Amino acid sequence: MKLTRVNSLKGEVTVPGDKSISHRSIMLGSLAKGDTEVYGFLQGADCLSSIDCFRKMGVEIENKGDIVVIHGRGLRGLQAPTDTLDVGNSGTTTRLMSGILAAQQFASRVNGDESIQKRPMKRIMTPLSMMGADIVSELGNDCAPLIINGKALKGIHYDSPVASAQVKSAILFAGLYADGETSVTEPAVSRNHTELMFEEFGVDIRCEDKTVTVKPATELYAKKVVVPGDISSAAYFMVAGAITPNSQITIKNVGINPTRDGIVKVFEMMGADMKVEKTSGDVGEPTADITVSTSNLKGCVVGGDIIPTLIDEIPAIAILACFADGETIIKDAQELKVKESNRIDVMVNNLKAMGADIEATDDGMIIRGGKTLHGAVIDSKLDHRIAMSFAVAAMNAEGETEILGSECVDISYPKFYEDMKMLTE
Ligand code: S3P
Repeated sequence: MKLTRVNSLKGEVTVPGDKSISHRSIMLGSLAKGDTEVYGFLQGADCLSSIDCFRKMGVEIENKGDIVVIHGRGLRGLQAPTDTLDVGNSGTTTRLMSGILAAQQFASRVNGDESIQKRPMKRIMTPLSMMGADIVSELGNDCAPLIINGKALKGIHYDSPVASAQVKSAILFAGLYADGETSVTEPAVSRNHTELMFEEFGVDIRCEDKTVTVKPATELYAKKVVVPGDISSAAYFMVAGAITPNSQITIKNVGINPTRDGIVKVFEMMGADMKVEKTSGDVGEPTADITVSTSNLKGCVVGGDIIPTLIDEIPAIAILACFADGETIIKDAQELKVKESNRIDVMVNNLKAMGADIEATDDGMIIRGGKTLHGAVIDSKLDHRIAMSFAVAAMNAEGETEILGSECVDISYPKFYEDMKMLTE
């Protein structure tokens, strides 16, 4: 994909459904009694991998486009898959589903693409093993392929060394099947979509500060799920609106759950011209229409407990920082190294190629804004968030930018380039 500068971006966009919530709707819908209807389901490759895996375990799932109907099999109704469960590129499918598989009365093998086979799985293998799970890495490198032999599990308390919703959720899913209470304490609160959806489906769960406790369940009950727009996808339009001249973009119906809204706070800290208009109450998953206009931005420090609330938006925030006055420091974000790519290295190398003043640190990056960016060849490393971030940078750079592997946006936002283009007309 080749991109050049745009003069202005104007209009409204509705981004696709939230990826995290879409995954969880398939998992909980599959384990529930009754039919779960999901509205606004994200039809991205990652969430389709979740559908595929649960179909392989005997769950009938009708994918009608915007509506997905899951004919739940009940908490103990999954069937042994006859084949490897293929998670594709999806870390969320791998980790959350492993928590479920650990407690089944059958064995399974979980594998995915080249990127997934490099992502750390010890972080879930350790707590699940403490619960009595039999989960091993086939190649002995703590990565997928994983072989999971279902076992009877016991409830534990786990002090997680990382603020990771995938780790927390894997444990909570396993906890549904344990012989007693299971709790997880995190160093900082990560996204809480599992907790909210567990409650909706009738699970006894409570959250206190940084600790979540779940009671074993006997049955889960199907619920209608309405998926809000994904703030991680909205982030590219927010940044594009702020850095492109003569622009104003409204992103409709964006999920602004407080465990996900760190980017809104960063926009405030940087002095962006932004309006957030709530469109639903504060219960469950709150939503808003977000309008961002061309802004005079100033650098800021992004670190500490805010990091888990904007971890996937950091590539987009790094682009934003290139257009701000002064220095932006992103710290406490070492988790970036173990995402779909090493997002510290990939952002720093590619932004340097475009002429940015940026350096990598051990736990983030330092960006001195104000340098004019120029076109370059960008290697996305097939990481969807890298491709989308550099598309936004390319639209504000001199000359032409080529994004290698640009089609990887299919993972979370298949129509990304089309939706962005609509705003230029
Ligand atoms: C996700 C949690 C985050 C995030 C990922 C989706 C989830 O990962 O980066 O894109 O749906 O639980 P970690 O839990 O590893 O931080």
